[in-house]
Formats: sequence, C-alpha cells, structure tokens
Amino acid sequence: MNLSGKRIAVTGAFGALGSVVSAAVKSAGASVACVDFAPVTKAPAALQGYVLIGAVDLGNAAAASAAIQSAASQLGGLDGIVNIAGGFRWEMVADGDAATWDFMFNVNVRTVLNASKAALPLLRTPGARIVNIGAAGAVKAAAGMGAYAAAKAGVARLTEALADELKDGGVTVNAVLPSIIDTAANRADMPGAQFDRWVKPEQVADLIVFLLSDRASAVTGALIPITGRV
Ligand SMILES: NC(=O)c1ccc[n+]([C@@H]2O[C@H](COP(=O)([O-])OP(=O)(O)OC[C@H]3O[C@@H](n4cnc5c(N)ncnc54)[C@H](OP(=O)(O)O)[C@@H]3O)[C@@H](O)[C@H]2O)c1
Repeated sequence: MNLSGKRIAVTGAFGALGSVVSAAVKSAGASVACVDFAPVTKAPAALQGYVLIGAVDLGNAAAASAAIQSAASQLGGLDGIVNIAGGFRWEMVADGDAATWDFMFNVNVRTVLNASKAALPLLRTPGARIVNIGAAGAVKAAAGMGAYAAAKAGVARLTEALADELKDGGVTVNAVLPSIIDTAANRADMPGAQFDRWVKPEQVADLIVFLLSDRASAVTGALIPITGRV
C-alpha cells in the first residue's frame, strides 16, 4: 500500500500500538508526526528521526489544537490523522468509582474529539483521512469492562457521526476495533494466555495503512473488527 507524499499525524504514537503504526505509515512512504502525552525524551528509539511532539494532553482542546497545528506546520500540511491515544481500566461497578467513567471518557473519547476537531480545518486535500481506534470489546461489555466499553462505544458513535458529516467533503472517517493486542503489557498482565491467538500490532497497522490509502476511498463510517483468533 502506497502512502507516498501523504502527511499523517499519529496520536498515542509513543505507545505500543502507536509506535508500530507510526513506523508502518512511514515505511509506506508517508511523513509522520508523532503526538503523545509523554515527553519526547520518552519516545521509543525506533521513532528517532520522526517529527516528535510530546507532553501534549489531547484531553485539553487548546493543547490538542496547538499540537495538531504544529504537526501540520512541521510536515508542510496534513492529509490524515490516526487517533490512537487512549487508555484502559478494569473495574467492577459495585466497588468502582464514577470518576473512572469520567477518566475513560476523557482519555478515549475527548482525545479523539479534540484531535479530530483540530485536524478538520487542516484536512483540505482530497482523500483526507481520519482513522480512530475503538475496541472489539465495546460491542458487548463483559464484567469489569463497563467504563472502557462505554467510552470506546463513544468512539464508534463519534466515528459514524463525523463520517456522515464529512461524506460530501471527501474526508473518510473509520475506526478499527481490535480485540486484545499482543503487546508486552498484555503479556505481563496475562502470562498464562495464548499469545499467538492475539492480533499483532503490525496486523492492526496494516489495516490502518489501507484505510489511509487511496485504495480505501469508498470506505467511510466503517467500524472494522480486527480480532486475530480471539
Ligand atoms: N492493547 C490492547 O489490547 C488494545 C485493544 C483494543 C484497543 N486498544 C486501544 O489501542 C490504543 C493503543 O493501545 P496501546 O496498548 O498501544 O496503549 P499504550 O501503550 O498505553 O499507548 C497509548 C498512548 O496514548 C497516550 N495517551 C494517553 N492519554 C493521552 C492524552 N490525554 N493525550 C495524549 N496522549 C495520550 C499514552 O501516553 P502515556 O502512556 O504517557 O499516558 C500512550 O503513549 C488505545 O486507544 C487502546 O484503548 C488497545
């Protein structure tokens, strides 16, 4: 898949999925700006040489706007954004806290909303793209997953609404819905699991590269499960 000449911002880019997606997008020919909450000193070594914009809380609209404008100015424009920043909490309702629901909403929905709103005025090229990260687990919540699943369901609804709003403007908006991803953190949390059943970050990255490409021009408002053998 060829992304030559495209200028793409990736949020949550210093994380497990974001760093792999950033590398895949770059190796497909795009120039990439990596945005994250962590300072640039914490960026993975693999992202040296990329445009790095750290210490950004995308939950804050002004900070998101400044970061996305900086990404566009350093890349010479913007053709797409991949909204990967997010977080997870497992918490049962009975002994949980309403603050967790606010936190999950802020870190998963508000980040996507703020970054997308900041990008919209900049996504002027035909074939511009927004790709969001939802979660397969948001379709039906299991025990302990209420706040996270509700927030990721919010990402799904935001994706559908924005896709409809931008349908005539040539900007596509889609979401990928991974089940558990084969990351070091998940392996550490679930040492007894069968890791080979989990979807690999590189497989999620391949789907995202396709959605960013010109080949995906007819795909918008799609919520695409990517679940390996889970
Ligand atoms: N891992 C899975 O199994 C899985 C499955 C389905 C969906 N997902 C989704 O995939 C995405 C990436 O997951 P991951 O496993 O790669 O997580 P990760 O390693 O924790 O990466 C997430 C990144 O987002 C950043 N971030 C969090 N809040 C932010 C904010 N307010 N502003 C800017 N950046 C922020 C984090 O920075 P800090 O670490 O500094 O906070 C981190 O670098 C998330 O949206 C997650 O919900 C993951």
